[in-house]
Amino acid sequence: MDYTKIKQSADFLKEKYAAVPKLGLILGSGLGVLAEEIENAVKIPYEQIPEFPVSTVEGHAGQLVFGTIGGVEVVAMQGRFHYYEGYTFEKVTFPIRVMKELGVENLIVTNAAGGVNEAFAPGDLMLISDHINNMGTNPLIGPNDSALGVRFPDMSEAYCKNLRAAAKDIAANIGLKVQEGVYVGNTGPSYETPAEVRMLRVLGGDAVGMSTVPEVIVARHAGLKVLGISCISNMAAGILDQPLNHEEVIETTEKVKADFLKYVKELVKEIGK
Ligand code: HPA
Repeated sequence: MDYTKIKQSADFLKEKYAAVPKLGLILGSGLGVLAEEIENAVKIPYEQIPEFPVSTVEGHAGQLVFGTIGGVEVVAMQGRFHYYEGYTFEKVTFPIRVMKELGVENLIVTNAAGGVNEAFAPGDLMLISDHINNMGTNPLIGPNDSALGVRFPDMSEAYCKNLRAAAKDIAANIGLKVQEGVYVGNTGPSYETPAEVRMLRVLGGDAVGMSTVPEVIVARHAGLKVLGISCISNMAAGILDQPLNHEEVIETTEKVKADFLKYVKELVKEIGK
C-alpha cells in the first residue's frame, strides 16, 4: 500500500471539506439512502478523487458524502468496491486507508447479507459479532508499511465489544429487535449452493455476504474501531424452496430502510459523542 497515494487522495478531500470526520460509514447494497440524511452534505464522486477506484455495479452510487448527522461530522461511502467486480483487495480497501488519513476513528460498516442462521428472517438487522474470511486471500498480503499498522494485526476483537454493547442499548431504547452473529465473507458473485450454506452453518456462520471482510481487516490494521451491521435481505440458498436474486435483496433493504435509517442515525449520535 503506497502511502503517497493515500495522502494524495486525502489531501484532495481536505481541500473540498475542511472539517475532520471522526466517524466513517460504509453503506451497503440498498442502504445508500442513509447518505441522504447527512446535513450540509458535500458529495464527491469517486471518479473525481485521485487514486480512487471507480464503482461499476448498478445500485451503487459511487461517491463520498461528507457532512453531519445530529451534529457529528461523518464521511460516508455511498457505494463500495467489491472483489467480485475485479478490484484487487488493495483497491477494495483503499478508501479505508483514506478515511484513516482524514481523521476517522470509528467505522460503521453495513451490508446486505443472506441469513444462514435459521432463526433469522428477511428484514432482520444483525450486529456483526465476528467474521470468517472465506475469500481466499487477505488485503494485508505483501510488504507491510509499519507507519500504517503492524505486520501481524490482532483480530480477536475485529468488531468492537463496546460499540456493540452501545448498539444493543440503543436498539432496546428505540424498541428495535436486533440479531447478533458471525458474518461470513465469500467472494461471490454467484450466490452459495445449499450445500455451501449448510457448511457455513456448521462452521459457525450466521450470515453470508460478498463484502465487509477486507475493509474490516484493513480498518483494524489501521487501528479503527468497527461496528458492523448486516441487513438480512434474504435467507441463504436452500433454506427456503426458492431461488435467490439481487432484486429480492434490494426489495428487502427497501422495506427495512426506515428502521435502518433511524437506528444508524442514533448510533452515529451516540458513537460520535
Ligand atoms: N449470499 C451472499 N451474499 C448476499 C446474499 C446471499 O444470500 N444476500 C445478500 N448478499
